Amino acid sequence: MMEQVELRMRHTLTILAVLLVVATTAAGQRRGPRGSGPGGELSPPLAKTEVEKRILAVLNDAVKAGELYANVPASDGRMLRLLAETVNARSVVEIGTSTGLSGLWFCLALEKTGGRLTTFEIDPGRAATAMAHFKKAGVDRLVTLVQGDAHQTIARLKDPIDIVFVDADKEGYVDYLNKLLPLVRPGGLIIAHNIDSAPDYLTAVTTNPDLETVLPAQAGNGMAVTLKKR
Ligand SMILES: C[S@@+](CC[C@H](N)C(=O)[O-])C[C@H]1O[C@@H](n2cnc3c(N)ncnc32)[C@H](O)[C@@H]1O
Repeated sequence: MMEQVELRMRHTLTILAVLLVVATTAAGQRRGPRGSGPGGELSPPLAKTEVEKRILAVLNDAVKAGELYANVPASDGRMLRLLAETVNARSVVEIGTSTGLSGLWFCLALEKTGGRLTTFEIDPGRAATAMAHFKKAGVDRLVTLVQGDAHQTIARLKDPIDIVFVDADKEGYVDYLNKLLPLVRPGGLIIAHNIDSAPDYLTAVTTNPDLETVLPAQAGNGMAVTLKKR
């Protein structure tokens, strides 16, 4: 008798487990691969101009060729482009270029806004790969790449900034914030990637009354978007 009950329970549990797997897989298929390819979880971005087409092709090729190092997923890249175009960014500063993928996403916006990207990278190999990507995409004229330790090299920045994107050494986020916030124009944004690994930074941007911070739910890799209030 006990054996029969146990058998029935095991049978029921197996059915429940199968149903769970089917439901999870179906949901995953509806969403598509998260953050992969040039589109992220949505359908791929549609190029409106030849310039957009070329930048998206370079992004696509870089992913296919594996010319990557800790780059933002496409879903976050699309968000960066959208934010930059929305605030009509003329000056974007990026800490942590890597192989240039987030920079290319920004360039999709900067092409339209007439803006420029200044991006900082400590690793010479990644800096060279990024520059090659910018050249291939025809956007190198929009980009200044500064190689070296950004904690020191950002001292050269003097002009107002519309967007700061922080995506380098996580323990350095607060230092980058303290050094660059005075240059961010009122109404400008400070965007930080992988904030789950930078709790001090999150505290800093959420305890300053000059700032308003949101964590977009759709962001692939924990992004904090902070407005410098007017
Ligand atoms: C997460 S990756 C950046 C990814 C890039 N934003 C993208 O999405 O394409 C972090 C980069 O920051 C660079 N980095 C780390 N510490 C740095 C520092 N002190 N100064 C400049 N770059 C630094 C690393 O070499 C690495 O390439």
